[in-house]
Amino acid sequence: MVFPLYVFDAYGTLFDVHSAVARHRVLVGSQAERLSELWRTKQLEYAWTRSLMGAYRDFDALTRDALDFAAARCGGISAEAREKLLEAYETLDPYADAAPVLAALRAQGAKTVILSNGTTAGLERAVHSAGLADLLDPSLSADALRVFKTAPAVYRMVCDRYGFRPEQISFQSSNRWDVAGAAKFGFRTVWINRSGAPDEYLDLPPTLIAASLAALLDA
Ligand code: LAC
Repeated sequence: MVFPLYVFDAYGTLFDVHSAVARHRVLVGSQAERLSELWRTKQLEYAWTRSLMGAYRDFDALTRDALDFAAARCGGISAEAREKLLEAYETLDPYADAAPVLAALRAQGAKTVILSNGTTAGLERAVHSAGLADLLDPSLSADALRVFKTAPAVYRMVCDRYGFRPEQISFQSSNRWDVAGAAKFGFRTVWINRSGAPDEYLDLPPTLIAASLAALLDA
């Protein structure tokens, strides 16, 4: 079944958030994996808590704050390593399935767009550095609303721009919490469970669970 519009989370779904540390593993040192995991965990925590308390900081600022916490927790990193990691975060590696699936969906006549907590400028840099600019409409950023996903208003931006009803829209994310928010809003949802994680938010199930974006071409 082809939907008229496919909406993609960015970080973790199209872009590999751990490719920044992987690129500079030697600079980061022996706790590279732990630092990368904690960096992502704190980045997301800050987005949720700041949305709940109404103390917005944009995603680029939260990414810096989260790296500083993770680095301090993992014994510290040099100023050079911090600079290189933040630069790398602006040009994350795309997953191998991103370009071919986006191209195939557009060849079928569907529209494709990112809906992300990322800033418009940050997403622009990531999309262009990953070579995906010709395969996506201009991104929708939560920054426009100064509140992050899973606030329903963020998902509603998609309907407002394109005029489709939620059930006409296929939303895919590797982040199960994001899939829960999108399901609650009313999108058809696909959880791209890249890491083989156990399911959660069981009262807000995805329409489909898949290991890669390729499943979108069959469903
Ligand atoms: C995003 C992050 C939260 O792209 O994955 O919105």
